[in-house]
Amino acid sequence: MSEHSIASRAAPPGLSHHLADYAAARRSFTWEHARLALTGGSDPRLNIAYEAVDRQVQRGCGVWLAARFIDRAGVRVDLTYSQLQRSCARFANVLGALGIGRGAAVATLLGRTPELFTVALGALKAGNVFCPLFSAFGPEPLKTRLMLGHIQVLVTTATFYRRKVEGIRALLGELRQVLIVREDANEALPAGTTDFAELLREASELFQTAATRDTDVALLHFTSGTTGMPKGVTLTHAAVIAQHATSELVLDLHPQEVYWCTADPGWVTGIAYGLIGPLTCAVTMIVDREEFDPQRWYQILAEEHVNVWYTAPTAIRMLMKAGTELTRAHQYPHLRLMASVGEPLNAEAVIWGVQAFGQPFHDTWWQTETGAIMIANFAAGEVVAGSMGRAVPGIDAAVVRRTAAGGIEAIDSPDEVGEIALRPGWPSMFSGYLDNPERYRASFHDGWYLAGDLARRDREGYFWFIGRADDVIKSSGHLISPFEVESALMQHPAVAQAAVIGIPDPIAGQAVKAFVELKSGVAPDEALRLKILGHARHLLGAAVAPREIAFSQALPRTRSGKIMRRLLRARELGLPEGDLSTLEGEP
Ligand code: WT7
Repeated sequence: MSEHSIASRAAPPGLSHHLADYAAARRSFTWEHARLALTGGSDPRLNIAYEAVDRQVQRGCGVWLAARFIDRAGVRVDLTYSQLQRSCARFANVLGALGIGRGAAVATLLGRTPELFTVALGALKAGNVFCPLFSAFGPEPLKTRLMLGHIQVLVTTATFYRRKVEGIRALLGELRQVLIVREDANEALPAGTTDFAELLREASELFQTAATRDTDVALLHFTSGTTGMPKGVTLTHAAVIAQHATSELVLDLHPQEVYWCTADPGWVTGIAYGLIGPLTCAVTMIVDREEFDPQRWYQILAEEHVNVWYTAPTAIRMLMKAGTELTRAHQYPHLRLMASVGEPLNAEAVIWGVQAFGQPFHDTWWQTETGAIMIANFAAGEVVAGSMGRAVPGIDAAVVRRTAAGGIEAIDSPDEVGEIALRPGWPSMFSGYLDNPERYRASFHDGWYLAGDLARRDREGYFWFIGRADDVIKSSGHLISPFEVESALMQHPAVAQAAVIGIPDPIAGQAVKAFVELKSGVAPDEALRLKILGHARHLLGAAVAPREIAFSQALPRTRSGKIMRRLLRARELGLPEGDLSTLEGEP
């Protein structure tokens, strides 16, 4: 073992890890077995909602708590598997009554609420496609996603609707229904919307789960690339096979354990591991409706007796910043596994886990496109601090290079940097980029899926993250497309051109910085800078908008006119400028 390895917390008496012996698990694991473990047969039907909810009720666990929602005041709302089954059936019936056909896309723009569970799983039960939208998005990213996703039903609150959707509604020709989750009973319904609760009340509690198959599209998650519009990643009902298997193999979830995933349901982690995977393991999920707050988080971990906690590096760094005394104000005897995902988890954070909690954070790696965890530090044994871990059983992961002949070749020598690649064939692999088959095909080369991340793999098979192969920005775990931010900036009347990069940030990992070229005759002053910032925040939402804007007289362009973000980043960070042979104005 390497010098970086740190012992995980031992399993409590009576509990055995799902994956105790890595080598043995890799040898014996097959996806065929993983599928059989779910449906308990070779039925060609497979439905995520059935596996997550109905199955637990069927095997007599209906009275177990599926989720506990905690609001600002600390008030808890508990939901059993049976209650969840009934509300999902009702929503599935509502979709039918509204004439929404199978396969049509249903989206949520909601906080972490019980209604989100109902809508997501009810839509899946009815054979519809579920698409979560991030509630911190502004109108511009929402418009793009609602349009690209062909969303027919949107479930949201009156506040979100008025602030973000009403103004773009006329552009959304395919949006047939907006259902409002009332935040208080006396609240007026905006024009052109329907009361969600009332529809639900009128619907029957019985619904025969749609006979979906492994290859039917179930989930639509938007992700960002370097160029062009966001990409709609589709996952099929078969994703539940991998999401369940990894909830056991990596998160080591056992029935009736208390599990807390802090990810927002607007992103893939919040659905795969904040909803589907854990419910298939019959755990009780903690859902905090509030935003991050160190004291509150420690209190939840302690008071709710959280056993397994899945969080993200930005949150861990914020906890570190808040100080270990706060951590130590509580005790966490029930907490037996802490895991992290979404951005690089530095070794210091892993080691801080040991100081503060007596156990390390377990880093895991995956992407929207992979639909489930692909690389992980496992619960049993050791964590290698600073490494993302090893390939999950059933996953063939490698570091590859492109050959001169245009092919792909796995790198055998340890520690050489290349791109992370995965052999297609795992059940949660994305089934497409919506309406963009060329882009989908371009993700595969020579029998590999290329992830767009650079890494190295050591002698023991541990992957070490190096960076992205593209210009995409990761800020607080959110993938941000420079193109989308640039497009919003360019909608401001004073802006001629914009270029957006990620700059290092000690807490968020990266922060969004924009360089703006003004139209000729417009004077760059502080008032204008603030106006453009305000414009971007309003359109994009605070989570996506640039934190900094700098005026530039001439953005570096290639001779073909493309802005060289790479060069801007190098200049910003004082790095070598690299190959400038294509730079406009160079000899
Ligand atoms: C990108 C995928 C992971 C699911 C939620 C985000 C980065 C992910 C790690 C990690 C370093 C990581 C990669 C990846 N990333 N996990 N453990 N260490 N980087 O999914 O929004 O599609 O983002 O997040 O760059 O490609 P996503």
